[in-house]
Amino acid sequence: MTVERIAVGVATPYDVTVGRGLIDDLSRWLPAAGGRRRAAVVTTAPVAQHYAAPVTAGLEAAGLVVYLQDVPDGEPAKSLAVLGGLYDWLASIPLGRGDLIVALGGGVVTDLAGFVAATWHRGVRVMHVPTTLLAQVDAAIGGKTGINLVAGKNLVGAFHQPVAVVADIATLETLPARELRAGMAEVIKCGFIRDPIILDLIERDPVAALDPSGDVLVELARRAVAVKAQIVAADVFERGDRALLNYGHTLGHALETLTAYTRYRHGEAVGLGMRFAAHVSELTGVAAPGLHDRTTRILTKVGLPIVADPVDSDEVFAVMARDKKVRDGLQLVLCTRPGEADVVAAPARRLLTTALTGLQRR
Ligand code: NAD
Ligand code: GLY
Repeated sequence: MTVERIAVGVATPYDVTVGRGLIDDLSRWLPAAGGRRRAAVVTTAPVAQHYAAPVTAGLEAAGLVVYLQDVPDGEPAKSLAVLGGLYDWLASIPLGRGDLIVALGGGVVTDLAGFVAATWHRGVRVMHVPTTLLAQVDAAIGGKTGINLVAGKNLVGAFHQPVAVVADIATLETLPARELRAGMAEVIKCGFIRDPIILDLIERDPVAALDPSGDVLVELARRAVAVKAQIVAADVFERGDRALLNYGHTLGHALETLTAYTRYRHGEAVGLGMRFAAHVSELTGVAAPGLHDRTTRILTKVGLPIVADPVDSDEVFAVMARDKKVRDGLQLVLCTRPGEADVVAAPARRLLTTALTGLQRR
């Protein structure tokens, strides 16, 4: 069994362990006990049915008393109401400052449980056991946590780094195929911004790339985790290069917002956003011709959409300008060549419109 440990070099460093079968022996990957007695596991039914038992057994084997709570499935769980219910549950345990919260699930669960951990008793330790590819390579790493308000997504949150992340690629065997492909968009993003070998591996064998029982996906996840770990460690609070992780996200977020988060999975919108950004990179001369075609081909190979539903460009650009990350005018992450990206001031509207039109054309 290949097991890789990638260190995230933040103020209190932690490891992301990537491999297959890790949750069958979870106690091995737990950080030093440090006086913890209780573990409060936050999860959701589709995940709990497969993985609650081995995770509970692993935590018990480490001497912890385990409490488990399901939250509603999907994005609605990132709400004030669910958050309030979790606080009441922690109070009933009662979970103390020296205890541990464990997030078992996709990015919704890691964001929500991470925020609970950031705020409970002014901060308790959290371990992430991500079970979607998106959470394994992105959401569970780097300490961004949060919930949504009616006014917008992720408007309430905190930076709170986990003490450990255990990414068991075998859990992806039960993940719906559409979710797996959506997570692959974030892996591809890591290829375009930092590690082009990711792109080569996917192009060489896209079927193996999407097979959770093989080694190629473990290698891809390891590489994507290494990219995220490097970027986060260099810029924890997103004052500089962490913004590169938003490649494909500015348009992606706008498409998600305008379709009320019901039309696209996040990774699908990011894939479309990368195709748009690659086209803009070429139109502005930031990248040589070929980037847009390569992006289209690689998205196609892994079954991600390459054409967006028709959208009103005025609405799209208005939403992009309202992005909470916009500070000094709209900026875009563009790819200069596979493996390198940069944050640049958005080019003339005419170029953006050409790229947006291209994204909607068959
Ligand atoms: P998700 O957590 O809703 O999971 C998708 C679906 O897959 C859910 O129905 C879930 O129950 C199911 N599932 C998860 N693992 C499974 C498994 N192994 N087997 C069977 N079913 C499984 O969605 P997601 O795409 O993982 O996460 C999206 C969230 O992540 C969004 O809220 C987004 O804002 C957040 N996010 C956060 C960051 C960050 O840096 N904090 C980064 C990216 C995304
Ligand atoms: N998902 C982008 C980041 O963590 O910064």
